[in-house]
Amino acid sequence: MMRTHRCGELNESHIDQEVDLCGWVHRRRDHGGVIFIDLRDREGMVQVVVDPDTPEAFAAAEQVRSEYVIKVHGKVRRRPEGTDNPNLPTGQIEVLASSLEILNWAETPPFPLDSEVPVSEEVRLRYRYLDLRRPEMQAKLKLRRDIVRALRNFLDEHGFFEIETPFLTKATPEGARDYLVPSRTHPHAFYALPQSPQLYKQLLMIAGFDRYYQIVRCFRDEDLRADRQPEFTQLDIETSFMDEHDIMALMEEMIRALFQQVLNIELPNPFPRLKYEEAIRRFGSDKPDLRIPLELVDVADLMADVEFKVFSGPAKDPKGRVAAMRLPEGGDLSRKEIDDLTKFVSTYGAKGLAYIKVNDAEQGRAGLQSPILKFLPDEVIEGILQRTQARSGDLIFFGADKAKVVNEALGALRVKLGMDRGLVEDAWRPLWVVEFPMFEWDEENQRWVALHHPFTAPACSIEALKKDPGKAVSRAYDMVLNGVEVGGGSIRIHTQEMQRAVFELLGISEAEAEEKFGFLLNALKYGCPPHGGIAFGLDRLVMLMTGSLTIRDVMAFPKTQTAACPMVDAPARVNEEQLRELLLQLRRLPQERLQKEKAE
Ligand code: AMO
Ligand code: AMP
Repeated sequence: MMRTHRCGELNESHIDQEVDLCGWVHRRRDHGGVIFIDLRDREGMVQVVVDPDTPEAFAAAEQVRSEYVIKVHGKVRRRPEGTDNPNLPTGQIEVLASSLEILNWAETPPFPLDSEVPVSEEVRLRYRYLDLRRPEMQAKLKLRRDIVRALRNFLDEHGFFEIETPFLTKATPEGARDYLVPSRTHPHAFYALPQSPQLYKQLLMIAGFDRYYQIVRCFRDEDLRADRQPEFTQLDIETSFMDEHDIMALMEEMIRALFQQVLNIELPNPFPRLKYEEAIRRFGSDKPDLRIPLELVDVADLMADVEFKVFSGPAKDPKGRVAAMRLPEGGDLSRKEIDDLTKFVSTYGAKGLAYIKVNDAEQGRAGLQSPILKFLPDEVIEGILQRTQARSGDLIFFGADKAKVVNEALGALRVKLGMDRGLVEDAWRPLWVVEFPMFEWDEENQRWVALHHPFTAPACSIEALKKDPGKAVSRAYDMVLNGVEVGGGSIRIHTQEMQRAVFELLGISEAEAEEKFGFLLNALKYGCPPHGGIAFGLDRLVMLMTGSLTIRDVMAFPKTQTAACPMVDAPARVNEEQLRELLLQLRRLPQERLQKEKAE
């Protein structure tokens, strides 16, 4: 063995022991005759002291530079009085080297690993192997390892089988585009990479496995954001003979155990449950951040007859919404700040952001300040103040439009104001969102689309479903934590009749259903147990638990926002031979894409 210990694990209990250490030179300091080296490995850092009494070691130490790989033999000793480093777990001790061997040299890294100087993400990802050496990144991947281990332990203890499912498969509808892989052996045919193992895990229930899990990569070609990657990891779970209440109870027990074991944090027991309808009404979102104390209130009934068309129009439209949101002590917002917020909500389609400043709540109209005051009669103003419970110094925002626009705009404004104004409670606020609608009406294509996926069971009969698809509620549930959807699942359809009915409502013809999902419809005939499950976005969970701002920070080798990897330079062109073997021919780029490529 080249080493006896890892650098970061040494402490006072090792004083006077002889140790062998291997690692990277984090920093080297020359202190008039004595050389200090901060030696780093995955467990942390320790200070190595080399003095001229050991001339060979000293000569070697003079050679080393940042990121050299070295081996040190030496004795652990207490640091001299007054030189402790309270910021370092090994800060009470140091290692006096008696020999030092350079195992490999290193060029100066393209960015320093020992400072907080911001480095562009492009550069970080190009040299990801160096970026990952940074103690912060090592800590994140270590916590990820701890999280996965705790989850596996829980599931193993609760009788779950880990079973792998194929990557080369057929389209699995989760609402994104598929990544396709051409087949050589079947000319003109393509595999699709799975958007999730959804259908396989259902087939495993039909096969009788009862409780399944898999830590599995999923592939979705969709527009990327801070919490979305083209390939990401799910903790995928399916069970038989459990209803939604059983599943939610077990899954929140798992998440509570996870937080307890890994972060020593007690989450609430049970998690609160919020109906989809209530979440949208109060927070404008189906993944509300409950740490933020702002809420939307409906005022459409007050506005139906006002002369201000911007409000009365949506107030009378069955698909419209007029909502108010009070910002406590928001009266200090400047004109410019309100203009910026108006710009912000416009990115969600809002046509404006009306507001009322409440200078003095006692004085009624005279105590208010607002560009829309003149349009509102006294009793309407009275109603608004009462319903929002406005106090002097507050500011009330308004949104009026199609409900979808108001919800998205005020929902996002709520989160932004919460963050910008320091209103976010320092806490963990998990919840379940339940009773989702089965379907959403797609105006553009004039058809119903599944809110979750087409295998989710409705809470009603086939007859009721067909009679009023818009009213049907599904047996789906999402777990939301601090405004992030960390997991989602449902009880599944387990009869052929219901599955056919849902396909039909979604506008999937009999022939198309047969072609795409014939295997599932067939399998449902052979004794399918009632079953349901859930999938957690593992990267999102790790992102939250490590306090990271993006999931890229908790993945070893993530893609950029354009789904590329600057390190290996993927995706890449392939050669003519490979294309010929696959019987593929490339089309010319359309003109506008050509121009865009050139510009970039
Ligand atoms: P869903 O599509 O909701 O459900 O995905 C489950 C969870 O996966 C995470 N997630 C993502 N994480 C990172 N990048 C992405 N692009 C991404 N997309 C989704 C989210 C989400 O809650 N088969 C169903 C689950 C089921 O019904 O059991 C499914 O995939 O945290
Ligand atoms: P206008 O009469 O268009 O100047 O608008 C008066 C006020 O109403 C301004 O503060 C606008 O920002 C706001 N406003 C306009 N349209 C909307 C809307 N759809 N929802 C909320 N406020 C709006």
